[in-house]
Amino acid sequence: MGDRALTGATGHASVDPAFFRRVVGSFATGVTIVTTLDSQGCLHGLTANSFTSVSLAPPLVLVCVERRSRSLAALRQSEVFAVNIASEAQRELSIRFATNAADKFDSVQTQRAATGAPIFADSVAWLDCRLSDIVAAGDHDVVIGKVVDMAEGSALPLGYFRGGFFNVSDEQSASQTRGQTVFSVIVDHGGRVLLCRAGEGGKWSFPEAPGDAGGLPLGGLRERLAEAGAPTTISFLYSVDEIRHRECTLLLYRGELSAKPDLADRENWRFFDAGATPWEDLLDYQTRMTLKRYFQERSQGRFGLFAETGEGGHIAPIVDNLRSYSKEDAERQLG
Ligand SMILES: Cc1cc2nc3c(=O)[nH]c(=O)nc-3n(C[C@H](O)[C@H](O)[C@H](O)COP(=O)(O)O)c2cc1C
Repeated sequence: MGDRALTGATGHASVDPAFFRRVVGSFATGVTIVTTLDSQGCLHGLTANSFTSVSLAPPLVLVCVERRSRSLAALRQSEVFAVNIASEAQRELSIRFATNAADKFDSVQTQRAATGAPIFADSVAWLDCRLSDIVAAGDHDVVIGKVVDMAEGSALPLGYFRGGFFNVSDEQSASQTRGQTVFSVIVDHGGRVLLCRAGEGGKWSFPEAPGDAGGLPLGGLRERLAEAGAPTTISFLYSVDEIRHRECTLLLYRGELSAKPDLADRENWRFFDAGATPWEDLLDYQTRMTLKRYFQERSQGRFGLFAETGEGGHIAPIVDNLRSYSKEDAERQLG
């Protein structure tokens, strides 16, 4: 089905189901995993993005469930369910609960909410509900639940848009940097490199600062590191890269700690050696390849400056005996 102009009428007397699915999928949502149990106490659940809140007093929520869903049959028996708001780290779990596998709960840690419905404690938030009403609507049932208990955590939510999952943290970092120069640094602490993430479930990256941050040198990168408990002296430039998916130019320096680190947020700021690096959970391809190159070059004792040239890039050797060069030095030497 090709794209149709935003302003144009479809010209179809009836609504094409695939196109309808795509158009309603343009409404970006979070992702939930709705969990329940049947009269035998067996656990069931499905991934659902049709969740919405309905009423504040009484506290009501709804989710639209396809009538042939097995979880719906179970929910009708127990008349309880929980809505788990999925975190970025629960992408795999959300994919699993969107299948009709019989063993969706195998090796998944759950707890029981007050109603007995299973909950995933590491979700962004969860709501424990008693069935209030079921309203038939086309091929789905609108399941309305009264909230009896709930909790929220600190993880970042998973998103869904036009048939694909997305990480809210990726979108946050992209929108903050669009069109800018971003300053970033590899902080080396005895062979371990400092990485940070936006929150639990977020992707790990080098500490960075957008170039327009209040006119501070290097976008305030050094101030940010000092606040995080890793005061750093910036040394040489290690990589100049255009990050297309973030629409920014990244200037990545190498830095050394200028004092003993005392990280304020140890959950989200950590030093990693090559073996312990969460390679699959790094922000993007560039971060992964740059960090691999760094560890390799460090073990060989010589570094190179990577510069994007438009057709890939080139690496020039870096001479690691930096001399400081102030304005006064320049005036004295150059006249
Ligand atoms: C992101 C996403 C959102 C979904 N939202 C819904 C939904 O709101 N309602 C629904 O009935 N199915 C939804 N599904 C499909 C169900 O998860 C899927 O049909 C599942 O296999 C049903 O499992 P069950 O038969 O064990 O209940 C969604 C799937 C995905 C990937």
